[in-house]
Amino acid sequence: MKQFPAQQSRDEYLRTQVQRSDAKFDYCKVSADDVRRYADVLHLRQRRAKRPQPIGPVVCLGTRNGREVDIFRTQLFAPHWRQRLMRALERDRKSFTAGVPMLEAIGRSRLDALDEHSVVGVELNPRAARRDIWVGSFDAMPAVWTDTFGVVFSNSFDQSQDPARSAAEWLRVIRPGGYLIFCFANDAAPTETDPIGGLSLPDARDLFGGELVYFQDRGSRAGYSEVILRINKGAA
Ligand SMILES: C[S@@+](CC[C@H](N)C(=O)[O-])C[C@H]1O[C@@H](n2cnc3c(N)ncnc32)[C@H](O)[C@@H]1O
Repeated sequence: MKQFPAQQSRDEYLRTQVQRSDAKFDYCKVSADDVRRYADVLHLRQRRAKRPQPIGPVVCLGTRNGREVDIFRTQLFAPHWRQRLMRALERDRKSFTAGVPMLEAIGRSRLDALDEHSVVGVELNPRAARRDIWVGSFDAMPAVWTDTFGVVFSNSFDQSQDPARSAAEWLRVIRPGGYLIFCFANDAAPTETDPIGGLSLPDARDLFGGELVYFQDRGSRAGYSEVILRINKGAA
């Protein structure tokens, strides 16, 4: 893991991230097929568990326009016909976009009423505000979220200002026995907008610990690794 040498002040960092997010607001790096793969891993683990736990609630950190929140909600919890339809209708034009956006928006969760089928997001950019997206920083999330989420997903660790602080905060909100789905660009050099670079599987394991459940060094994009870790926190 490499960190960009010139540290910004907190205000500069927040401003830089929001400006960057605004410039690419319609872009979504995550595809419905990606989330289908993660959902298959989680469902298989659940079926094999001696004492199965519900998968959710789920939180997506650094979610930009929130499309990944809609994909996770559908691919984890919607009827199969809707999951298949969303995958079939999705378009890939450098970025993944919804074929029928209104169909993806059906059944959004509420931040103030989390349950095992909730999927919510966290995003710095105020343009992302929705009833299922909390606007704020993923390194300073609500105190009431301690030990809450069965799944934390993020492909935005590269945007951390302080990797140790972000990792501690992501671990805080995962409930014991929950999963971290962590995606990162291979060999990316750190920059002012992406202050963390050069992430690898050993970095993910050092930062978060837990049990390695799944690793693939190429998702729907070349040069993009996907890791799933089960975070025990002393749970059986
Ligand atoms: C690399 S983009 C990923 C967006 C989305 N997950 C995707 O796949 O297209 C990073 C997003 O994280 C947001 N972000 C950066 N730093 C953040 C922070 N400290 N807290 C919350 N969101 C942050 C940015 O505003 C941006 O929208």
